[in-house]
Amino acid sequence: ARAAQVLVASNRGPISYALDADGTLTSRRGGGGLVSGLSAIGSEANTLWVCSALGDGDREAVRRGVGEEGVRMLDIDAGTHADAYNGIANSVLWFVHHMLYQTPLEPVFDAEFRRQWGAYETYNRAFAQALAEEAADGASVVVQDYHLALVPGMLRELRPDLRIGHFSHTPWAPPEYFRMLPDDVAEQLLRGMLGADRLGFLTRRWADAFARCCVDVLGGTGSTRIGVYGLGADAEFLRRRAHEPDVDERLATLREQIGPGRKAIVRVDRTELSKNIVRGLLAYGQLLTDRPEWRGRVVHVAFAYPSRQDLAVYREYTAEVSRVASAINSTYGTGDWTPVLLHVEDDFARSLAAYRLADVALVNPIRDGMNLVAKEVPVVSEEGCVLVLSREAGAYEELREDAVGVNPYDVVGTAAALHEALSMSAGERGERTKRLAAAATALPPRQWFLEQLNALREA
Ligand code: G6P
Repeated sequence: ARAAQVLVASNRGPISYALDADGTLTSRRGGGGLVSGLSAIGSEANTLWVCSALGDGDREAVRRGVGEEGVRMLDIDAGTHADAYNGIANSVLWFVHHMLYQTPLEPVFDAEFRRQWGAYETYNRAFAQALAEEAADGASVVVQDYHLALVPGMLRELRPDLRIGHFSHTPWAPPEYFRMLPDDVAEQLLRGMLGADRLGFLTRRWADAFARCCVDVLGGTGSTRIGVYGLGADAEFLRRRAHEPDVDERLATLREQIGPGRKAIVRVDRTELSKNIVRGLLAYGQLLTDRPEWRGRVVHVAFAYPSRQDLAVYREYTAEVSRVASAINSTYGTGDWTPVLLHVEDDFARSLAAYRLADVALVNPIRDGMNLVAKEVPVVSEEGCVLVLSREAGAYEELREDAVGVNPYDVVGTAAALHEALSMSAGERGERTKRLAAAATALPPRQWFLEQLNALREA
């Protein structure tokens, strides 16, 4: 105890365990932007990653004392975790920052919400206590994301000697939207984060929104420093991983499924409301309507991996994605051409194979902290790939010059952007891909993390 010099805290950790019917535990790598970014740090000496046990497998691993060195999973009461993670973090805070509410009916901050808010506090306190136990004198702690917004303030009270940072991997809501939260909750969230010495965001836009929320909600001014760290893709890892035999194998299968001489429009996402998969499919359908010359000559390869399936609205969205994809296939498909190839089971090797062959990548979120797919594709692409990118993705700030920008709500406009992308000359597309890859890898994950640590140590 009290030995770690550098601590990371996040809800989802780098590893998760599945409990098989016969009682064996198998481990797998966690998903999402946060884990992809932080995994590059690896298990360095004196570094500890504190995370939640997320399912039965993780809980069993904690009980059996199974685990990885440098990782401590917290076995927080399952009901408390569900209220904090599903109820508050993913149904309220995620919705606020991505502006996902349909406001005539939502949100409703009722007694149930207050009960869940209590669980969110309990869950944040469990993290603060674990970090306080594990951190060496004067250690640096970097707390990640909206799940743990109260931790910096709580930890500061327990351990005033620590250097505490907090990093947001999401957008931050503008004050007019953020103020939907009950006043006391809005205040607690901001004050919790302001307990940190340093706050980090992925873009200027989100950092500015946070600062404006502080002025608006808290009135006064504070002195917490805010930094912008635009997490980039890990070129070295991606280029190596993308050429391993399992990826080659999937590439061959995908090529066969697409068919010779056809172009591929690729998208890879969690099946996430903010990723805008349905409008992306509608835009592709619109392309086939507006530009019949593409019929039979293009395939939309859409990988939409399951995410947050405890929430009904995610399950409904997942079903809607399948429904719209099938509708396009039955409207336009022919005996030898399936317009949409939708895959819903998670397979990282297959995603990399799709990146390698993509002619166009469609990244059209309605709002996104960064979006690492937009940064990974140009790194892995073999023949150059045109990036159709939502101007509401954090990555747009860095990639706008060489991407084809779209308004994510404008399906007709997105269809036109897809046509432009498909029609681009090989020369131009190659040049753009090179510049995109350079911009996408400007701040690789390791450096992204070390710069934050250095800034924290200077604090
Ligand atoms: C986003 C969040 C991460 C989260 C990831 C996956 O990238 O910023 O904190 O881990 O989504 O979502 P999940 O709920 O599965 O952890």
